[in-house]
Amino acid sequence: MHKILKRDSRFIDQEGDLLKSEVIDKAWKSDRKLIELLLEDEKVKAKFFAEIKGHWVFNIHTFIDYIQDKNFLNDSYTKYKNKVGLNIAGKFLKEREEVALVWPFKDCILEGGMTREDEKRKEIFFNEILAQDEIDRLLDPKVLTNWKRYTSNGIKEIKNLKRDEQGTIRENLIIKGNNLLTLHSLKTQFQGKIKLIYIDPPYNTGNDSFGYNDNFNHSTWLTFMKNRLEVARELLRDDGVIFVQCDDNEQAYLKVLMDEVFCRENFIEVITVVNNPRGRDYGGIANMHELICVYSKSINYQLYRIVDENKKFPYYDKISGFEIRELRNRNIKFNLNNRPNLFYQFYLNPDNQDKNGFFEISLDYKEGWNEIYPVKSQGIQTVWRWGKDKSKSNLNVNICGKKTKNKSYQIVEKYREKSRMARSVWWDKEVNSERGTLHLKKIFGEKIFAHPKPEETLKRIIEISTKENDIILDFFVGSGTTCAVAHKMKRQYIGIEQMDYVENITVERLKKVIGRKIKKEGSLFAEIEYDRSGISKAVNWQGGGDFVYCELKKYNEEFIEQIQEAKTTAELLKTWEEMKDKSFLNWNVDIKRQDEAMEEFKELAIAKQKKVLVMLLNKNQIYVNLSEIDDEDFQVNEEDKKMNREFYNF
Ligand SMILES: C[S@@+](CC[C@H](N)C(=O)[O-])C[C@H]1O[C@@H](n2cnc3c(N)ncnc32)[C@H](O)[C@@H]1O
Repeated sequence: MHKILKRDSRFIDQEGDLLKSEVIDKAWKSDRKLIELLLEDEKVKAKFFAEIKGHWVFNIHTFIDYIQDKNFLNDSYTKYKNKVGLNIAGKFLKEREEVALVWPFKDCILEGGMTREDEKRKEIFFNEILAQDEIDRLLDPKVLTNWKRYTSNGIKEIKNLKRDEQGTIRENLIIKGNNLLTLHSLKTQFQGKIKLIYIDPPYNTGNDSFGYNDNFNHSTWLTFMKNRLEVARELLRDDGVIFVQCDDNEQAYLKVLMDEVFCRENFIEVITVVNNPRGRDYGGIANMHELICVYSKSINYQLYRIVDENKKFPYYDKISGFEIRELRNRNIKFNLNNRPNLFYQFYLNPDNQDKNGFFEISLDYKEGWNEIYPVKSQGIQTVWRWGKDKSKSNLNVNICGKKTKNKSYQIVEKYREKSRMARSVWWDKEVNSERGTLHLKKIFGEKIFAHPKPEETLKRIIEISTKENDIILDFFVGSGTTCAVAHKMKRQYIGIEQMDYVENITVERLKKVIGRKIKKEGSLFAEIEYDRSGISKAVNWQGGGDFVYCELKKYNEEFIEQIQEAKTTAELLKTWEEMKDKSFLNWNVDIKRQDEAMEEFKELAIAKQKKVLVMLLNKNQIYVNLSEIDDEDFQVNEEDKKMNREFYNF
């Protein structure tokens, strides 16, 4: 029908799209040209015309209903929604239950902040959208293999995993595998335990980066992200936060998606990172920034402030000693009745003042000492922020007396963290993307990726959202910036990456962070030689610590990799023979028919051949499911069995 109507130039706009309203208008007017056009096609004629005594009568209402049906012609809004992927095949993104599995092509690396130049090296993706009924064991926990512990003393055999009293695994983990499936495996152990998730996913920069047209591209990217963000949310602690870095290509869409997954109320901010102050000029408006969408799991999130390097300094609160500003802001009215334990007197020794002007204080009365109560502020009676016990243990260490301007005394915090607020635009040289590139070059002696994130950006994110020992997750870990910074800042971390370079780049980088024990000639004790670059100086990093490496145990994935690596049709045919014998094929694959169609298969371009073969494989068996750990077909060795028992705690 589209084709027929488009033959009439009155019905097409400048972009060649059908003008629905014009067609309807002309139909109402029984426009002669339109009717002639419709009568030319036998099927159309049969559908919209009735024969009465040899005359053909136009059924205007049926025709107009047909044209107006949403499935016939997308108006620009529907088209827009389809394009952004919020509505795909008539279903809103949140209703869609498919899963997008994406395998980047081996030779191509998805780098953070890819530039247009990089795009010329086309990234080929295998991606497959699985419908809900095709998914049965896909998201089941997987068997983990190839366990190693990396320490300053080299690789150590690993027998068990440290856990705390709550049973939480207390190990830094680097896991190789598809992140969606790894996240689902992690869920068994880390649900509700992650304080910070930072990700820097593929930016979906090129029209082709997912191998399809732009429309599919967007929706695939969104489905891909949605699948991962949903499970990520479950991993977050109630006071957890997520930072997702992206650029303008997907930011607006990502924001809508994140509103959906994390809820609008939990939106914190979109941070603009001016990572390229000179800007990349392609003849339009030079782009100088990337964006980070920040959401909390729930509104009770806690973001700390960025703390300056010279953390502690004598601090004197000018308003009133321990004003409970936080409580007042939340409109909680307190008085002596509801907080009596916080209204008590201190005693101050007016004769003992140190060089910073602080006076000695005590909770016990002493001869000649002054009595001090919390101050009234703006007509409201304040109370102390700490109870007696806490005050006692902090007496003269963190709290002490101070003379006020009007010559009376009050209790103040002696030291307070000097802080500046985290703001929404980061434009200083620390976040310049070149920094990340140069840093990796320094570590490895050659340029590794185009734009890994600078350690300083991660330091800032980690500072404002976590404390020591909190758990941080990055499931697009790339060169491992998040993990390296988390390690140096004494946070626990989990990094996930599917590419082989996780072993020779990510792990190698972290090995350098930990450092290695060396004994120099003439010295008595061994010392640790560690990575001194990046944020090392700022956080006084001295090396040490360890991390655990493991991989999802592959099954059909072995075939996917063989297919990806094949250079010729002959190689692919060989793989197909092996697949028939050893792989798990989709339930509906008929090997006989497939073999019969081989001549046609050979006619296809090699990229298509690869795609077809990958499609035949059952994705529920890409990796070995934990439930099959004892099945001999999967050849899980005894050490792996033991470590999986350790990890999954059974
Ligand atoms: C933009 S890079 C991250 C760079 C990182 N922030 C850094 O500083 O090095 C994205 C990474 O995600 C990985 N990745 C993409 N899709 C993935 C998937 N489905 N599972 C696991 N890793 C994936 C890519 O291989 C790539 O290394």
